[in-house]
Amino acid sequence: MGMTAERVQACHFFQFFCNQFTLIGSKPLDILTTKQNESGMFFQQLAKPRQQKGFQATFTGTLFLMAGLIAIAQEPVTKEQTNDKLAKVVKLGEAIVENTTTHPMSKEYVGNALNCTSCHLNNGRHEKAGTFLGTATAYPAWSPREDRVITLEDRVLNCFMRSCNGTRPPLGSEVSVAVTAYITSLSQGQPLRMNSNRPVGPGAIKLLAVKPDQADIKRGASLYTSRCAECHQKDGQGDNDNPPVWGDRSYNDGAGLSSVENLAAWLKVAMPPDATDLTDEQALDIAAYVNSHKRPHFELSEHLPAKERLGEYNASKEK
Ligand code: HEC
Ligand code: HEC
Repeated sequence: MGMTAERVQACHFFQFFCNQFTLIGSKPLDILTTKQNESGMFFQQLAKPRQQKGFQATFTGTLFLMAGLIAIAQEPVTKEQTNDKLAKVVKLGEAIVENTTTHPMSKEYVGNALNCTSCHLNNGRHEKAGTFLGTATAYPAWSPREDRVITLEDRVLNCFMRSCNGTRPPLGSEVSVAVTAYITSLSQGQPLRMNSNRPVGPGAIKLLAVKPDQADIKRGASLYTSRCAECHQKDGQGDNDNPPVWGDRSYNDGAGLSSVENLAAWLKVAMPPDATDLTDEQALDIAAYVNSHKRPHFELSEHLPAKERLGEYNASKEK
């Protein structure tokens, strides 16, 4: 443990404090000298004998001093340092959300070309399209799919398996904790309201009034050509700047967006990025067209890590 300038200063402050203490308790003034022992600890030594009362005061003062020194010696994590370390993990989590397919910590768990931010726009800071704002306030929440209460971390891991068509990272792994910390940070200061119906936050996308059986796929195809293909391409495979919307490199059929109803609701608030002006009917038609294409089939067992890395996961009600 090194003695930084700051700590030496703190010691001097303590010494000054103790000297004052001694001054009050004893007459004549005792002269205290500060020495340093082998381990670098400061201690006080009386230069000459003094009266009993003064001794008590000095003794008390020294106790204070020692308490202070012990506190310093143990290098307590100050509030600022805590925030620093937490802030770093939160930042890491955001980087993973943004670059899930390429980040060294997350890429092994992703099985397609999608980053979390591909659907949770602006890293989940978009107020409507898959927002993470306020999300953490809803957890732990009841999940009908798992038929049990799940945590926000569980929820994060599910998106790795389904939307990212990848492998569920181990519970408590660095990547899982970082992403969960980031998402939690976007609810800082908000009151908790655990969701007893389903695992979604207060800003979850609302379903549209139109029903999937009203969808017109043909109309959806022509709308896709005019409103979507310039970015996601006619073949749905996207390019360097735009993610694939169907096929092997897109979300699997166990993902939230694989439901026409969910995709329509998401499109309505998310696409096209600069002009979200689709009517409910258009969003539904396009969603039906996009989801009429082939995409990876979700088989739970193929998305779980080795048993010893899984932790507890109740999959009894999984499809
Ligand atoms: C293909 C699009 C897509 C991708 C990619 C995706 N998600 Fe999601 N995610 C969704 C949708 C859609 C929902 C809401 C599903 C629902 O309502 O059932 C959701 C829900 C969530 C929720 C719960 C939100 C809430 O309101 O409670 C979390 C947390 C989450 N995703 C995290 C992630 C993380 C972390 C990643 C990246 C590892 C990711 N998602 C990747 C589409 C996606
Ligand atoms: C100007 C380009 C552009 C247009 C037009 C556009 N998108 Fe996107 N789309 C994107 C980008 C970019 C993303 C990824 C979000 C991000 O990284 O911010 C995305 C994400 C998506 C996603 C989620 C990720 C995935 O690949 O599955 C879907 C689904 C999607 N768009 C469908 C559509 C549909 C349907 C339309 C037409 C109504 C459309 N988009 C129009 C650029 C575009």
